[in-house]
Amino acid sequence: MPKKLDLTDNLENYIINHSETLSDVQNEIIQHNKSLGDQQRLQISISQAQFLQTLIKVSNAKKILEIGSFTGFSALSMAMALPADGILISLDKNPEFSNKAKYFYDKAKEKRIKQIIKPAIESLKELKVTKRLFDLIFIDADKENYLNYYESCINLIDKKGLIVIDNVLWHGEVADDANNDKFTNIIRDFNSHIKQDKRITKNIVPIGDGLTICIKK
Ligand SMILES: C[S@@+](CC[C@H](N)C(=O)[O-])C[C@H]1O[C@@H](n2cnc3c(N)ncnc32)[C@H](O)[C@@H]1O
Repeated sequence: MPKKLDLTDNLENYIINHSETLSDVQNEIIQHNKSLGDQQRLQISISQAQFLQTLIKVSNAKKILEIGSFTGFSALSMAMALPADGILISLDKNPEFSNKAKYFYDKAKEKRIKQIIKPAIESLKELKVTKRLFDLIFIDADKENYLNYYESCINLIDKKGLIVIDNVLWHGEVADDANNDKFTNIIRDFNSHIKQDKRITKNIVPIGDGLTICIKK
């Protein structure tokens, strides 16, 4: 077995620079997020965005649901990988973040993104009533509700649909038995739930803060 890679910032930059080039608006969102100080860590990594775009293209996803939009980097990146008649519904409860995201979607002339601004649990209940099904759902909001989101989402995707969940490695803390803080345990319990769920096949990909890819059987 080859020695595993040490993913330094330098190597991460090399990967980004040799993958799909970012658009001007994607770069603008990244710069804006950097100006927010601590909050910039809410955004998915650039290599995660590139990976999500690949996932959308190989799976031919046309209908995407996102839970947790922040200032729009992940939603815009995913929408860019959609076909012309694709749609992405993005849920976030924060009007300030959502207004900023809308500014960037307009600037990118991206019309396929629909925003719903309210607590995601409420939006998911409403989506269930419409019987609307998605090809790919990306979960990246409050960790306390991850299990609720996942259980709602499993009914919102068709067979072979994908549920992708961010932060499942929680900065590597999930594998540190000495760490028993609240959020580490929430993510551990969530990962254990996914592991035993026979309705899906699953794979954790160590990119960014860790993505789990679930495929509905
Ligand atoms: C980690 S950020 C999402 C980052 C985004 N995917 C990106 O890459 O830029 C989490 C987002 O979830 C939103 N959020 C937190 N709790 C929520 C809830 N109960 N309902 C809806 N949105 C929520 C926050 O407002 C925040 O924008």
